[in-house]
Amino acid sequence: MADKIKLFVNGVEVEVESGKNLIDAIGAVGIEIPHLCYHPALGADGNCRMCLVGIEDGRPPLVPACKTPAQEGMKVLLDAEHIKKIQHDVLEFELINHPIDCPVCDQAGECKLQDYYMSYDQADSRMTVPQVTKGKKMDFGGGVVHDQERCVLCGRCVRFCREITNTGELGIINRTDAARVNFFPGRPLSNRYALNVVDLCPVGAMTSSDFRFKQRVWFMKKALGICHGCSKGCNITIDHNREKYKDDVIYRYRPVFNEQVNGYFMCDEGRLSYKNENEGRLLEARLSGKGRSIKDVLAACTKEIERADKIVIVLSPNCSLEQMVTVKALSEKLGASLSGYSEGYLKKGDGDDYLIQDDKAANRAGLVLLGIDCSKDGFETAVQESSLLINFNNDLILSSKDSDLKKLLKETKIVALATHDNQCTGMADMAIPVASYSEYTGTVINCDNILQRFGKAITKNEDLADICEIACQLGSPLQSDEQRFSELQQIISALGEFEPDKIPAEGLNLNDSEAANVTA
Ligand code: SF4
Ligand code: SF4
Ligand code: FES
Repeated sequence: MADKIKLFVNGVEVEVESGKNLIDAIGAVGIEIPHLCYHPALGADGNCRMCLVGIEDGRPPLVPACKTPAQEGMKVLLDAEHIKKIQHDVLEFELINHPIDCPVCDQAGECKLQDYYMSYDQADSRMTVPQVTKGKKMDFGGGVVHDQERCVLCGRCVRFCREITNTGELGIINRTDAARVNFFPGRPLSNRYALNVVDLCPVGAMTSSDFRFKQRVWFMKKALGICHGCSKGCNITIDHNREKYKDDVIYRYRPVFNEQVNGYFMCDEGRLSYKNENEGRLLEARLSGKGRSIKDVLAACTKEIERADKIVIVLSPNCSLEQMVTVKALSEKLGASLSGYSEGYLKKGDGDDYLIQDDKAANRAGLVLLGIDCSKDGFETAVQESSLLINFNNDLILSSKDSDLKKLLKETKIVALATHDNQCTGMADMAIPVASYSEYTGTVINCDNILQRFGKAITKNEDLADICEIACQLGSPLQSDEQRFSELQQIISALGEFEPDKIPAEGLNLNDSEAANVTA
């Protein structure tokens, strides 16, 4: 825990963390110092001068807050006339050549320039000479579209490519009113984190070709979630909107800061994986390929379970811990073999030394923690000995060739509980649609043994059942959320201290607990 210091803001004493600059220290107690070029992940560049404040200790009348460390007893002035004047002047300077196209700008509603104009200025333009025109709708590569006229030359995007991805595609060329951001000739943005420049850009100069003109940001609801694109488990907001008479639709994922997981960023593939939550979903239950009610299909499953001599159950490595314990309890009750076979979710060599992992599953560590066998041999032997396979959303086709799988399952009846309509549901005798991770509450453990809980973000017109509910209807004894959580508390001692909704937002690091041996 960082040390606390006391300082004065406009004569009022506040307690802040030491070791931070004034923007972050004072910002943490709810007092915003306007700034454009500073970002905590990129450090202080000091180029925009929006953050000028006064310090009453004999130093020059104005200092940049981004470059000034908070100190004990410091007297910071934010509301003096000369500070207001400088904010007004810097803002006017930024807006001299700005196109003021807020009505058609994707950033409207989330734009720092717009916010500061509304809070600090609201003055009419005094310009009588024609504005400088620059490039519009420029394809910067990586799904990023750039508008040079909206750019305030804060340099965040340039520094991101230099300091975070080390790819250096962007630079600021020319000087004065001819200065503009551009990529080096023939080298557009091509790194796997490029879309982070859209979040970093404090104005609407960097937009995402995927999100452009799809939604006004003030119509969307924002819910916290965990990306399930790989085992990193980056923290995200799920921005979604349920228009009248329509179903809830996700429009974008954006990263949420979590120091011990993803910092401020996320990868582009994970960011765009929101589309999988909207598209290709299995929406109807099927019996022998024909649409039937879920009740009918469940009744047919129950009969097959009663009839089967031996059953094999396979779980997805994307299932939550709650789903895993519920299905494990079902398998024990039915005397079934339980497998987490999912080697196809591992893309060897695809990960990097930053966020992206080889393992494209969100909770393989959960399978390991629960002692569920994930071997190919174990799965194949269990299938050969069984007459019924119940598949809890494991996309087996990723792990085995279509022809091999068909051969292996030739004599086996298949029940597929699936979020998506895929080859596995096509092969199934009984298929039941289930909720995907944006539609239920659950817990996962990431590749660094950090346990994270996420909530239900999306409510559909007709909500699909969580895997836990279906497992209970098939006979799992863990019938309630409380029973499932208490079962997890038996296994993960670190959970013993918490109520489910009190698990810290930054996650629980299991490395310090007895579950330290969990490896993905
Ligand atoms: S494009 Fe955005 S982030 Fe990049 S320099 Fe311009 S305003 Fe800053
Ligand atoms: S690194 Fe993994 S968890 Fe993070 S955004 Fe990318 S796919 Fe999602
Ligand atoms: S934020 Fe301090 S100069 Fe830009």
